[in-house]
Amino acid sequence: MTDVDEAAKIIRAGGVVAFPTETVYGLGCDATNEEATSKIFDIKGRPSFNPLIVHVSSIEQARSIGEFNDNVLKLTSIWPAPLTIVMNLNPTANIAKSVLAGLGSVAIRMPAHPIALELITKSSCPIAAPSANPSGYISATEMQHVLMHFGDQQVFILGGDKVCQYGLESTIIDTTGEVPTILRYGFITPLVLESILGKKVKVADSIMQIKAPGMLNKHYSPRVPLRLNSEFLNKGEIGLNFGQSKLNGQYSLNLSEKGDLIEAASNLYSMMRILDNYAVDNRMQGIAIAKIPNEFIGLAINDRIKRAANL
Ligand code: TXA
Ligand code: MG
Repeated sequence: MTDVDEAAKIIRAGGVVAFPTETVYGLGCDATNEEATSKIFDIKGRPSFNPLIVHVSSIEQARSIGEFNDNVLKLTSIWPAPLTIVMNLNPTANIAKSVLAGLGSVAIRMPAHPIALELITKSSCPIAAPSANPSGYISATEMQHVLMHFGDQQVFILGGDKVCQYGLESTIIDTTGEVPTILRYGFITPLVLESILGKKVKVADSIMQIKAPGMLNKHYSPRVPLRLNSEFLNKGEIGLNFGQSKLNGQYSLNLSEKGDLIEAASNLYSMMRILDNYAVDNRMQGIAIAKIPNEFIGLAINDRIKRAANL
């Protein structure tokens, strides 16, 4: 029996499995099983008002859960991809109540990682999965991160090659309204979405249109304070550089020496974790992050570090 076979057996039996995707690690269970999904909220310490993404491995499976309008049809043409689509719930869908958190919509995603797809297929059910981190903390992009958080709980953890190569959570687009609306930035950028849809999209305003609690401020946060757009280090700070920036204190890392936003995104969470651990162990005051261009994938990076900094 392979690890994925074993993991699928656990999912079918109502257990919890951490699995790699192309974005971040997910903490998954059978999305149709109320008891299993409530375990996920417990393990993560996730508030019950925050709904989960349902992961599927086929379009038929997605159609049995969500209603496909024209926009959904166009957007699903790029699946599997780091793109989560919020659509109206199919009235005949069999999804545990806690996954939906009382909404009439459902967030569905087909991940582009072979292990994730194999796991969903072999489990013979859609998999509800938030990111595999304690609620509010930095997402996990390596097996080690997940082990650290949930190693002592009954969570089976899958490893694999090229796990979490993008390193940032999927883009979320809401297709339930008149105008498709981006709820969370990610690798599928607004321009790409507009070209797939053939029309303009909106970006949700962070306060007035909170639909995804992922848009709430405290999220992705290290234990020590973060300071953004930094050009120098304050006393007691350690630095996270980008490109040619020079935050060179007693301990500094660089998201991408060559100034590549894709590389920076894939390093962001693991480097934030290293710096957070170092800062806590060495009683440092905080982490200073250099300015990162606010374009292309930089939109998603800046969005995450702003929330991580509680801004
Ligand atoms: O890349 C990803 O999306 C990862 C991997 C594991 O797939 N998952 C992930 O899940 O980031 P999570 O739970 O950390 O973030 C999901 C976000 C939350 O902010 C949640 O509020 C939002 O999706 N969400 C879920 N269902 C929704 C719905 N029906 N309407 C609006 N937002 C929804
Ligand atoms: Mg998350």
